[in-house]
Amino acid sequence: MTEEPLVLIEHRGRAAWLTLNRPEFRNALSFPTLLELRKHLAELKVDSETWVVAFSGAGGKAFCAGADLKERRMMDEAQVKEFVRNIRGTMDDIAALPQPTVAVMQGHAFGGGCEMALACDLRVMDEDAQIGLTETGLGIIPGAGGCVRLPRLLGTARAKEMILLAQRLTAIRAGEIGLVHKVAEAETALQVGEEMVAELLKKGPLALRAAKKAMDGALDSDLHHALALEADCYQSIIPTQDRLEALAAFAEKRPPRFNGK
Ligand code: COA
Repeated sequence: MTEEPLVLIEHRGRAAWLTLNRPEFRNALSFPTLLELRKHLAELKVDSETWVVAFSGAGGKAFCAGADLKERRMMDEAQVKEFVRNIRGTMDDIAALPQPTVAVMQGHAFGGGCEMALACDLRVMDEDAQIGLTETGLGIIPGAGGCVRLPRLLGTARAKEMILLAQRLTAIRAGEIGLVHKVAEAETALQVGEEMVAELLKKGPLALRAAKKAMDGALDSDLHHALALEADCYQSIIPTQDRLEALAAFAEKRPPRFNGK
């Protein structure tokens, strides 16, 4: 009997959908799940045929309940260290994908699940779901980028409030403060996420990659270097067929047909 994959991958047109597939554990991240996820991420990173990557969780109850706390109980300190190194690496792999990424959260996102969403570019969530970095309530800290990405996203004041109080925010509140881009009516996150992916697929794929690189790179640089990086990213787009196609489409009053070249 073949075992169910822990992470499903589905290519729908030019989009790849990665789905955490442990619904009975609310898609908690076990060590084998991380390894499976990282294998897919390594392939997608160099896949020029995939223009957008979306993340979701099976079962509809949770996007991801964070690190697998049942597995954690069985680990010694060395194993915990190795796990934390790997979960941090996984979120870094997601953040480093050249394609735009969307976290489609049909259900709760806590701990590592929230960190996974933070590593994505865009976030969609069902209105009846909750999101938060709950680690301090468990006597640990967010260790997969949460202490860094959340303050960058929302500012230190809000991030400290969320992390120090281990808050579980409603999706509606998360939408109000800009943590979630789109709050979907209950149980429609998947549909709303698909619409967002479809919108992204109408844009120039090379332009999306270049804009992402310019924005992410700017976070790590001073103004001078950030502007130089943006100039380089623009430069990389000038010789592309897609740029000329968009100009022709504009003149001919039709939508562009991008080919990613
Ligand atoms: N690790 C391992 N198992 C987990 C888990 C996790 N992070 N989160 C949930 N599960 C398991 C539960 O133990 C339960 O298993 P059981 O049936 O053997 O008891 C099963 O998933 C269903 O969980 P349950 O709490 O009954 O489901 P729910 O839909 O009522 O609530 C959550 C889901 C996600 C709100 C709740 O499970 C929760 O708060 N989990 C912890 C989230 C968290 O703080 N994560 C941070 C980790 S650092």
